[in-house]
Amino acid sequence: MPTTRDVNGALLLGGVRLIDLAFDSSISTPTYVYDVDAMAQEARELRAAFDGAPHLVAYAVKANTAGAIVRRFAAEGCGADVVSGSELRVALGCGILPEQIVFSGVAKTDDEIDRALLTGDRGIAALQIESIEEIPRVAARARAASRTARVSFRLNPAIDLDALDTHAHIATGHDEAKFGIPRADVAYALEAIAAAPNVKLVGIGAHIGSQFTTVAPYAEGARTVFAIARDVRATHALEFVDAGGGMGVDYGAGCPVRPADFVRAARAEQKAAGLADLALYIEPGRALVATHGVLLAKVIQAKATRSGAPRRWLMIDAGMNDLIRPALYQAVHRVVPLDGAAGETVPYRVVGPVCESSDDFGTHVLPATPPASVALLDAGAYGFTMASVYNGRPVPTEVFLAGGAYTVSARRAADAWVHERLAAG
Ligand code: LLP
Repeated sequence: MPTTRDVNGALLLGGVRLIDLAFDSSISTPTYVYDVDAMAQEARELRAAFDGAPHLVAYAVKANTAGAIVRRFAAEGCGADVVSGSELRVALGCGILPEQIVFSGVAKTDDEIDRALLTGDRGIAALQIESIEEIPRVAARARAASRTARVSFRLNPAIDLDALDTHAHIATGHDEAKFGIPRADVAYALEAIAAAPNVKLVGIGAHIGSQFTTVAPYAEGARTVFAIARDVRATHALEFVDAGGGMGVDYGAGCPVRPADFVRAARAEQKAAGLADLALYIEPGRALVATHGVLLAKVIQAKATRSGAPRRWLMIDAGMNDLIRPALYQAVHRVVPLDGAAGETVPYRVVGPVCESSDDFGTHVLPATPPASVALLDAGAYGFTMASVYNGRPVPTEVFLAGGAYTVSARRAADAWVHERLAAG
């Protein structure tokens, strides 16, 4: 359950009054707060949509890499989709089994390929091949490691960019994108596999983009790549098809579909392609975590024009370095007060302290008497993981709510940044 309010109007997440956390002396703002129990519940709901059919919910770790969260998904039987050697280490360290991990990425280094090949007895579930050029590279590393490489093709289904109803920066399944093997080149990719006896093709899939609020593009991507999988299956012992991530969430403008609807759409396409006996993999990131996290900030000051056009800004202690989605994708995260104060409201431009015009969280209607603290909602995905230390600002604190208690990640001191910069060079 995302945020609610108690009888006094105080904002709650996972039953905890967020204002108490914002002013807790052991927690410095800005801080992310996550409802880990609610995230686990999302995973259960998504797994239930498979009705017991063979599947893997490979959590896209890039959305939120916190150990407390990845461990909970491991306990829920989820696997992982990783995109770097470090993410692979986090997934394994959190107890996700090698055979439940897929590794995506257009430019994996030799070290990352080696790590994936040498994990467990037979490597991970699959290295997701994104180019024909990657195949001989993986074959060479597998030969050097005396291993057979398990790979899947991440295909680019070349869906028209206009049909991908999402922001251009997070659309990947169109033919200008760097991602995936172009669907028209599958025959060449199969030739490269034939020339590499130590590379075994075990899966075919796609990931066409992120934050889809309708299932149509997802179903179209699945239909395209599953049709190819049906043909490839005649010559290769495929074990799974992969419909990718991309399930959208409601950032306030509405999202008529639930993550489970995407699973049902992919399953329908899988059956229609005659592939119901294969495992169906999905790679949700955002859908499992976004709405169950908030970013808490204290208000530093308000600013208003005294003459000319009336303008008001609300300056908070969270900036674009803490949550970059508004600056990068024009994303809107609702900004709401933590207390329940009633009274007159006015529109404020909510901004951070960073010296960039794009350090701007947009216009939000808030109490005319500025609140002492606010929450930026739906910040559980691609928030902390995209944070930077720009302007000498340490990355934010994180608080994890689970089972009625909370834990706080190690507090980051600005001192560490100063020392590290003084030592540079
Ligand atoms: N699988 C692959 C191969 C991916 O590249 C991604 C996300 C996912 C799965 C998970 O997608 P999701 O279910 O979260 O939509 N930073 C952007 C989103 C970038 C997504 C990158 N790839 C944002 O904040 O909106």
